[in-house]
Amino acid sequence: MSKFIIVGDIVSPTSLNELQCYSGYIQVENGKITEVGTREAFDIKQNVGLHIDVIKPEQFVMPGFVDCHTHAPQFPNLGLGLDRPLLEWLDKYTFPLENKYSDEQFAANVYEKVVKRLLNNGTTTACYFGSLHLNGTLELVKSAIQHNQRALVGKVSMNIQNNAGYYNNTADELRDVELFINSVNGYQNSLVEPIITPRFAVSCDGELMRGLSNLANKYQCAIQSHISENKKEIEYVLQIHSSCSDYTDIYNRCGILNNRCIMAHAVYLSDTEMSTFARLGVSVAHCPASNTRLRSGMCPVRRLLDYNVSVGLGTDVSGGDSASILDAMRRAMDVSEHLSMTQGVGPAIGWKEALYLATAGGAKALGLQDRIGTFEVGKSFDALLIDMAVPHGPIDNYTTSSAGTDAIVDKVQKFVYCGDDRNIVQAYVNGKQVKNIQQSWTK
Ligand code: GUN
Ligand code: FE
Repeated sequence: MSKFIIVGDIVSPTSLNELQCYSGYIQVENGKITEVGTREAFDIKQNVGLHIDVIKPEQFVMPGFVDCHTHAPQFPNLGLGLDRPLLEWLDKYTFPLENKYSDEQFAANVYEKVVKRLLNNGTTTACYFGSLHLNGTLELVKSAIQHNQRALVGKVSMNIQNNAGYYNNTADELRDVELFINSVNGYQNSLVEPIITPRFAVSCDGELMRGLSNLANKYQCAIQSHISENKKEIEYVLQIHSSCSDYTDIYNRCGILNNRCIMAHAVYLSDTEMSTFARLGVSVAHCPASNTRLRSGMCPVRRLLDYNVSVGLGTDVSGGDSASILDAMRRAMDVSEHLSMTQGVGPAIGWKEALYLATAGGAKALGLQDRIGTFEVGKSFDALLIDMAVPHGPIDNYTTSSAGTDAIVDKVQKFVYCGDDRNIVQAYVNGKQVKNIQQSWTK
């Protein structure tokens, strides 16, 4: 039985309004947290013969990042082709790239890099869109399992024609999704689960979405899609689903919306739609980098939170130009500040709230709150070891602050505003170290 104890500064955002920061210890057995306590309690505990890591004063331990929405096959386009709005961007750059994942070797090569890169950036849990291809997307599942990343992986479903010829017929698609679910469940691992993935209402008709909803019920799977990202997209889907009152109504009538559903973007939801999300327990993956880069709009996250909608953060590569959730936190704060300054949607999201959305909030949005997101007995130890004094890192004199009041809180705040992957010196998933240090210098 593997058992270890980490002793030092511990940081855990337990709710939007509460960030726990204290000197203490976490005991981990077989990947699960079996004790958490203060430093004083540790000092009087009997620990003879145990593996104990006392971390340095400039370090702290926090829960791992959760990326609630990213497209693994789009990573080769990261930072490219950002000159078109959503629907043109999909047609010109994205569908042609995703279509290449019929080649399983190509898929395996890209996905290995994607998984390692996200782990090195501290993303211990990712909710992935794969491509339309069954076998290609299974390569992503295998990569996550091999490198010990917690993940929800979706084989993308589309049955409406496009210029790239990148779609499937309905019967084949439903068969492939069911095969995909059975294959992933057949790997019998505790980290990776399938997620039903209708791309969005532009690419899927009602018949396909109803079929996918039935599969989600049959196999008790989560569901992910995109909603209300871009004004032209909204106009178009309401044209093709003309009997529906709004975008939310389209998905609701197909049985897609429930408390295991996560929708990306939600930039233009009406009050009625927000309250429907809250009532049905639908979560939102907020993707500020992508919303800015594709000029889609500014998502009013504060309003979603005021409606009690569960929100997590997504990088949405390659609409988003960064694979880092640390970066997504800052982009979320920036967009929220801009909305507050220009449209009075406030108060803006603060850094502690952003940290919650990046960890426990994301876990809740994905329905994983009983397993990860905070340091509580019974949860898996999915964590990051942060070092604010790494050689050549951006911050090496954190102790000289005159602005802060609490040394631990100051370290965390500096990390949120100006840290990078070099400060993430180790990542753990289910108690196992997963960061490949050699690769840690590439963002
Ligand atoms: N809507 C449908 N597909 C996509 C996608 O791949 N990226 C983004 N940002 N929005 C989408
Ligand atoms: Fe997306």
